[in-house]
Amino acid sequence: MSDIIIALDGFSSCGKSTTARHVAAALHYAFLDTGAMYRAVALYFHRQQVNTADLQAVKEALAHVEITFEFNPSKQASDTILNGENVEGEIRKMYISDLVSQVAAIPEVRHAMVAQQQRMGEKKAIVMDGRDIGTVVFPQAELKIFMTAEPHIRAQRRKLELLQKGEDLPLEEIIENLRKRDEIDSNRSEGPLKRAADAIDLDTSYRTMDEQVEFVLDHVRRVQ
Ligand code: C5P
Repeated sequence: MSDIIIALDGFSSCGKSTTARHVAAALHYAFLDTGAMYRAVALYFHRQQVNTADLQAVKEALAHVEITFEFNPSKQASDTILNGENVEGEIRKMYISDLVSQVAAIPEVRHAMVAQQQRMGEKKAIVMDGRDIGTVVFPQAELKIFMTAEPHIRAQRRKLELLQKGEDLPLEEIIENLRKRDEIDSNRSEGPLKRAADAIDLDTSYRTMDEQVEFVLDHVRRVQ
């Protein structure tokens, strides 16, 4: 069977990363959570107080950002490393979710991240999840899945996820964060969140994780 690129795009909290991780494990493929990269950039900009309206400052800051991944055996998943520091826990916090979409909308940030993602997918045999994988990063991906879920279900899932990481936030705050991110992500000029014309739709609202993974694997078998 030939190695392919699998692009999983869609809204936040539709189960993209978890699905991608399981699909990658089943196929012995690499997995890249591209949202983690934008989150790491947002964390760096926040810490360095980069003025995101100053293009020169953005470019200089980006030159100092190095994002890598390190496999964490206890989680059976990769942690995000920013300039040598494990920032996996920090980038998942709500204050980063509140900042990330503004940072991800900056074209220079996108160019840098997309270039790194394309390098990481050069050899194929990879599952990448994000917003623009099937449209911008790998428009030639052999399989593109566009994931959606009903807003209240996404918010509930996000609440549970944050709770498991120790952040107990009101549902209203989570709903508002998802709404704002959807709006910024869908309306930016570069790499907006958009279903690729040749993507296959996957509504995860009433599907178990096993069913989502099986859905994707079934489509992999059809294209291979
Ligand atoms: O996937 P996750 O929700 O962690 O992504 C965080 C944010 O990163 C998104 O809301 C979006 O602003 C940005 N992002 C992006 N392009 C991607 C992946 C994520 O703009 N390919």
